[in-house]
Amino acid sequence: MKPRPRARRRSATPLRSPTLPVPAVSLRGITRRFGPVLANDDVSLDLAPGEIHALVGENGAGKTTLMRVLYGMIAPDAGVIEVEGRPARIQRPADAMRLGLGMVHQHFMLVDPLTVAENVTLGREPRLALGGFDRARAEGELRALAERYRLPVEPGARVASLPVGAQQRVEILKALHRGARVLILDEPTAVLTPQEVDELFVMLRRLCQQGVTIVLITHKLAEVKALAHRVTVMRAGRVVGGGTIDSLTIERIAELMVGRPVATALTRAERAPGAPALRSSGSRASRATGSTSWSSASPACVPQLAAMCGSAACGHVPTRGPTSRPASRTFRATGSSAGSCPR
Ligand SMILES: Nc1ncnc2c1ncn2[C@@H]1O[C@H](COP(=O)(O)OP(=O)(O)OP(=O)(O)O)[C@@H](O)[C@H]1O
Ligand SMILES: [Mg+2]
Repeated sequence: MKPRPRARRRSATPLRSPTLPVPAVSLRGITRRFGPVLANDDVSLDLAPGEIHALVGENGAGKTTLMRVLYGMIAPDAGVIEVEGRPARIQRPADAMRLGLGMVHQHFMLVDPLTVAENVTLGREPRLALGGFDRARAEGELRALAERYRLPVEPGARVASLPVGAQQRVEILKALHRGARVLILDEPTAVLTPQEVDELFVMLRRLCQQGVTIVLITHKLAEVKALAHRVTVMRAGRVVGGGTIDSLTIERIAELMVGRPVATALTRAERAPGAPALRSSGSRASRATGSTSWSSASPACVPQLAAMCGSAACGHVPTRGPTSRPASRTFRATGSSAGSCPR
């Protein structure tokens, strides 16, 4: 067979090292306006084959718009798309599906009264000789697919009766049944329980090991760190940064998202303790097990210590094991008279 000639690169496409694989998808200069809103402003993005690529940004950053452009739901005002190195004309979702792109939307697009197999094969149903729906074949196809990608589903179950996590698996299987090699998931964890999130992540890692490229749109940076290989950050319609997951901290990604440093619990300024505001004297525990005494505390600690006085832990900070009962309950705050803890 004659080798297929390589697609000519457009001038907008940056030069790549010949050792790097051709991206599964390249978006170049995507621009899309909604009236006065510039939802995507000259956005370029490469998806490497088999990677999990997190697309992050604040509300309204333009993430969904970009992926809707890729999936053929929105026409861009400018920009080009390449799929596996070839220019792609994607005018509707059917074009995207033909090119191996699938999208699971924030709000599922399933038909509730239909079964899982009917939903997955909808529009491409296997037919019996007389034209009716070949249920046995549809369910067989689905079982094989579910086994191949280890996405457990019950082909005969009605979608309406399934929990949200299972409905999401049906959506993923629907995309895979249509031949998706690139799977776009728009905020997939927003609707899931923590256990369903864990299960989804196991499934997504497995899919990516099987060569599926995944775009994960999310706000949740811990999830990005846990799952993604690379990140692209969008702000106000533009790509403002990104890179491999190891090259970016959560703080840095958050900073790129909002455009200024973000104070988190981890970055709170250290403060030198001031003069003691509270002193205890003669504090003794009747059972010392698991407790340690304090003799002074800075002003910031007073409310916590006062609260502790309401418990049997007065004057003692439990470090391990059961709290001991103090023999002495006297404390003195700076500039005030001595007090005692209620029994
Ligand atoms: N169909 C539309 N008509 C008008 N404006 C739109 C439309 N779709 C998106 N926009 C606007 O484009 C901008 C980008 O929206 P988009 O939904 O792409 O952001 P996003 O990053 O996905 O946000 P979110 O995290 O809230 O989902 C927003 O200002 C939004 O209001
Ligand atoms: Mg969105």
